[in-house]
Amino acid sequence: MSEQSAASNGLEEFAAPDLLDPYEKLVSIEVLGRTVNVPENNRLLRCFQYLSINTISYGDFCWNGECTNCQIWYHQQGQTEQNDRPALSCRLVCEDGMVITKLSRFIELDGITK
Ligand code: FES
Repeated sequence: MSEQSAASNGLEEFAAPDLLDPYEKLVSIEVLGRTVNVPENNRLLRCFQYLSINTISYGDFCWNGECTNCQIWYHQQGQTEQNDRPALSCRLVCEDGMVITKLSRFIELDGITK
């Protein structure tokens, strides 16, 4: 599947596309060893919601940087877990090649953590 058609499918399948910031293509990131495609220019928590709408929509998240329930640990492609740094996924915009190695226990993703 090309990136373009994947983006189209994402738009059609996503239950609430207006939640997402505008995007033209999907980027590839790794989450706990799984490679997934998520909409560029969006904060990671929105990307997680795109991947798993119910668990994130009904999760315990403030969405504004206060609760820290959305914390992740990540590094860039080509780095190792020794380079891991923490971030709040409600603040951090996804980047192609990002490798997420650990998720807060509040982040449940269908098909990845459960
Ligand atoms: S959702 Fe509360 S800090 Fe990110």
